Amino acid sequence: MTAPTGTTRPTTESEALFARALAVTPGGVNSPVRAFRSVGGTPRFMRSGQGAWITDADGNSYVDLVGSWGPMILGHRHPAVIDAVNSAVGRGLSFGTPGAGEVELGEEIVARMPVDEVRLVSSGTEATMSAIRLARGFTGRTVVVKFAGCYHGHVDALLASAGSGVATLALPDSAGVPASTTADVLVLPYNDVPALEAAFAEHGDRIACVITEAAAANMGVVPPLPGFNATLSRLTRAHGALLISDEVMTGFRLSRSGMYGLDGAVEGWAPDLMTFGKVIGGGLPVGAFGGRSDVMELLAPVGPVYQAGTLSGNPVATAAGVATLRQLDADVYAHLDATAAEVARLSSAALTGAGVGHRVQHAGNLFSIFFTTDEVRNYDEARTQHTAPFAAFFHSMLDSGVYLPPSAFEAWFVSAAHDDRAMEHIAAALPAAAEAAARVQ
Ligand SMILES: Cc1ncc(COP(=O)(O)O)c(C=O)c1O
Repeated sequence: MTAPTGTTRPTTESEALFARALAVTPGGVNSPVRAFRSVGGTPRFMRSGQGAWITDADGNSYVDLVGSWGPMILGHRHPAVIDAVNSAVGRGLSFGTPGAGEVELGEEIVARMPVDEVRLVSSGTEATMSAIRLARGFTGRTVVVKFAGCYHGHVDALLASAGSGVATLALPDSAGVPASTTADVLVLPYNDVPALEAAFAEHGDRIACVITEAAAANMGVVPPLPGFNATLSRLTRAHGALLISDEVMTGFRLSRSGMYGLDGAVEGWAPDLMTFGKVIGGGLPVGAFGGRSDVMELLAPVGPVYQAGTLSGNPVATAAGVATLRQLDADVYAHLDATAAEVARLSSAALTGAGVGHRVQHAGNLFSIFFTTDEVRNYDEARTQHTAPFAAFFHSMLDSGVYLPPSAFEAWFVSAAHDDRAMEHIAAALPAAAEAAARVQ
């Protein structure tokens, strides 16, 4: 493990960059999980990527199992995406007017997802924040229900943790979030239908919306129990509230229509609003929210719910998104599914071989490994896992040239570019990493 920078002289380019970064930005990073706080050591500063591989500032290459946290579904520098971006750049970077690219991206999303209309924004956070405002505007109500361990970006109201009882209003989960903001939020355990029924029984006529990850993947991967998403639809409909299904992570990744494509039609689960991000920007900043026309038409300039953005629908970003979505055919999804299953199988076999207690949980081709043998159905259960073995496992993989998410609570991402060479590299790294995990469990 690399010594923390700041206490010793930097010996690598990443350490030198981290020292400079620490001087100009809090924690040396522009998004907290990048800081390696939960695994220790110095973050690697990446310089370039090609296919399934990324290369750091010191010239070390890694098989990438983060994929920029989801957007790089085709791998790095896919020629179709790079060509589309170069051609858009050649025409100009931003006009602040409507343009063809945003129409095309809107059409691609509406063709794949059960939404009538979409509005483009620049991040997943903006998408969920705007969807909540729209749901409150549509229903004329204020209370938002969310689930503990589901992440929807850093929207003030959603940085909330559960109050003292299941149906008690929530408390701020971050400094700077006023209690008045979370006083209109209920935080419930994921996958817990009785808790949801109790909340609706007590607050039903005040609930504007329930927001949920279509499959939870920000506490490790915790799929919805059979029928859970359908129950959300049934209860919201019965009480005049809206269901917001957040597919920022799962959308366009798990299938052509995300998690909805895996079990929506079967379950009778019908979200009123959906939020998207990551894959639809192909590596550039794009988010979106969409849904039923009667709800979406409340947005400005048609209706009274205000929402706007200087760079929304940016021509370069939408070019990357459209080019990415157009590559995602049945063969790509088959490859993603097979690759994810094989990485999970190899990892699990290595851990079993070393005697490390663990379980793999999937939602389609998103998966994570919990360092516990008990089933994980919600955030409280996720937090019972042992994180020390993960840190040892992570660093051994990193030293062998495999870049995993630097936290035991994050999903692993594969791409269309993960080929036999990448898989052999992962397979070769796993036994030592499993032994490292075994030594600290
Ligand atoms: C399910 C989900 N919703 C929303 C967000 C927020 O997206 P962004 O980081 O683009 O603001 C994320 C980010 O990881 C996410 O996973």
